[in-house]
Amino acid sequence: MHNRRSFIKSTGLATAITAIGCNASTQKNTSKIQEYPKIISTWKHLEDNKAALDELLSGSSVLDAIETGIRMAENNAEDLSVGVGGLPDRDGNITLDACIMDSAGKAGSVSFLQGIRHPISLARKVMENTPHVMLTGAGAQQYAREIGFPLEDLSTVESNKAFAEWKKKSIYKPKINIENHDTVGMLAIDNNGNLAGGCSTSGVAYKMHGRVGDSPIIGAGLFVDNDYGAATATGMGELVLRTLGSFLVVELMRQGATPAEACKDAVMRIVDKGNYQDLQVGYVAMDKQGNTGAYSLVSGFNYTETTKSDSVILDADSYLD
Ligand code: GLY
Repeated sequence: MHNRRSFIKSTGLATAITAIGCNASTQKNTSKIQEYPKIISTWKHLEDNKAALDELLSGSSVLDAIETGIRMAENNAEDLSVGVGGLPDRDGNITLDACIMDSAGKAGSVSFLQGIRHPISLARKVMENTPHVMLTGAGAQQYAREIGFPLEDLSTVESNKAFAEWKKKSIYKPKINIENHDTVGMLAIDNNGNLAGGCSTSGVAYKMHGRVGDSPIIGAGLFVDNDYGAATATGMGELVLRTLGSFLVVELMRQGATPAEACKDAVMRIVDKGNYQDLQVGYVAMDKQGNTGAYSLVSGFNYTETTKSDSVILDADSYLD
């Protein structure tokens, strides 16, 4: 078993907690009720969070807020790990993964999707309009076309250039570390304390064709339990998949851990299993009271927290400096 660090640093809001010599999984969450509504997302997503918050403030549902915020990230061609302009696999194909969960515990997901700009919206359609949770590959694209999503070339000058550069050596070492961000994961809570979440990615750059990561897997890249909390993941999907990380974070919150403690415990589960060298994983979580927390394997992971009064980028505490 790992040795616990003696103190989890405050993330800047009212989430400072002590974990000295106690089991985080059994510690009661005594945090105060936070400001509603609130949006948190992995990495720097100030504009995307604001779009989500504005959607909520306009009277839309917490699920609409998530879809709006993530659609904005998917539209951002400068983000090389999500939607348009996402870096391709080693054969030059951009393949996208996404999932969404609502307050009722319903879930929708698409994986290995090509040519569709907004996988998050398609995941929502799968959730709301089919008897299934997950569609993949050609079948997901076929469903998208049937319901009116246009087929698009999602490559950009930048993504093509990056791929051409990678091809010069074609070193097959898919890796996500601190220099190589990935994935937008977003969680939201509305005025009534209802939670929803989503996540979207083009996955690990230059991965094998057909590789699917954690992001579209319910319980790995995302999990929402409206009674207890929500969590989402970023980083090397294989590590998250092996530990079903987001479900684990929510389960730990259900057992009484704060969001920060739960994220840390889930990262330490990866550490305990080994084989994490040179890789990054980060979790963000929000509990039913709107308290938030985050933790990552390696320093350098940050996340964005947005309320009506403030929108800030916070550094997550980490296992490795
Ligand atoms: N976390 C995104 C991926 O591994 O594909």
